[in-house]
Amino acid sequence: MIKFDNVTKIYADSTVAIRDISFEVAEGTTTVLVGPSGCGKTTTMKLVNRLEDPTEGAVYYDGTNTQEIGVTELRRDIGYVIQEIGLFNHMTVGENVATVPKLKGWDDGQIDDRVDKLLELMALSPEEYRDQYPRELSGGQRQRVGVARALAADPDVLLMDEPFGALDPITRADLQDEFLEIQAEINTTILFVTHSIDEALKMGDKIVIFDVGELVQYDTPRNILENPNSEFVRDFVGEDITLKKLSLINVDEIMRPTNVIEDTTDQDSKTAVTNGGEVMHHLAPGDSLKSALSTFVESDIQSLPVVEDEETIGVIDRDEIYEIYNGG
Ligand SMILES: Nc1ncnc2c1ncn2[C@@H]1O[C@H](COP(=O)(O)OP(=O)(O)O)[C@@H](O)[C@H]1O
Ligand SMILES: [Mg+2]
Repeated sequence: MIKFDNVTKIYADSTVAIRDISFEVAEGTTTVLVGPSGCGKTTTMKLVNRLEDPTEGAVYYDGTNTQEIGVTELRRDIGYVIQEIGLFNHMTVGENVATVPKLKGWDDGQIDDRVDKLLELMALSPEEYRDQYPRELSGGQRQRVGVARALAADPDVLLMDEPFGALDPITRADLQDEFLEIQAEINTTILFVTHSIDEALKMGDKIVIFDVGELVQYDTPRNILENPNSEFVRDFVGEDITLKKLSLINVDEIMRPTNVIEDTTDQDSKTAVTNGGEVMHHLAPGDSLKSALSTFVESDIQSLPVVEDEETIGVIDRDEIYEIYNGG
């Protein structure tokens, strides 16, 4: 979908922002660019929608060199969200979200429907927020409006430059979780910039790690944790690698499904944790192994049922998680 082919960007004042960068972003995936401040992340992002042009090498969009695509045409397909996003302060939330659909000449009914749908998706009730102004919102709500605006015209690609960087840690974690859910629904190709390795590990299908101007490792979150390719990456990933790894794996990836097992096993696991028919301790299929581990520690039970819609769908033993934990 997006391909960087030996791209170098040197600014007019001869700053070399990035040197000889190559990587590819597959359609429908999220790729996170991560690295310390000034390493060239924003520059890389701007080369995609031609806010900047390469000095050497080429950026391809859907197989075509972006230099051969008109800037207007390119930006119509590509949504852009930046930190402390420039919402238009004189426009209501609804008008802000409607900006690009209006430019594209959608009819009013269609635009209204789209605005309401996106506000709902971003957990902002349209009745309450559509007619408010940005200054009436919290930082987290403004950022949600920014994401809604970027998604409004259903872009093929979404560029997000430290979109949650200005938020407090709790709001930030909430928005990350919500965005992961949205991402699963919309199937947009996403390029996401952050300086936080934890955010990168959480949000990315693939991660590109930059040192100053250089790409040092391009890999899946799990491979980056398991096989950092340099001292720089090891330092950047930091402490608690095992816990970070456990937070990347979900319960449904390692549970034993109960639907193929006889009811007796089901009964066993239930009796271990029920009290008068109430399931006391259980896991959800989407829980991370990190949160499963704390449930095991809390409950002090050997094996826990995985419950979805009040039905037990699988079982996990505490030892299985310990094995992964100790496996390093
Ligand atoms: N317009 C510009 N002119 C000159 N240098 C720039 C310009 N924009 C960014 N830079 C420099 O390019 C390098 C990379 O910047 P940037 O891509 O913004 O990094 P990051 O987003 O990783 O913090 C930095 O040294 C920065 O100062
Ligand atoms: Mg930047």
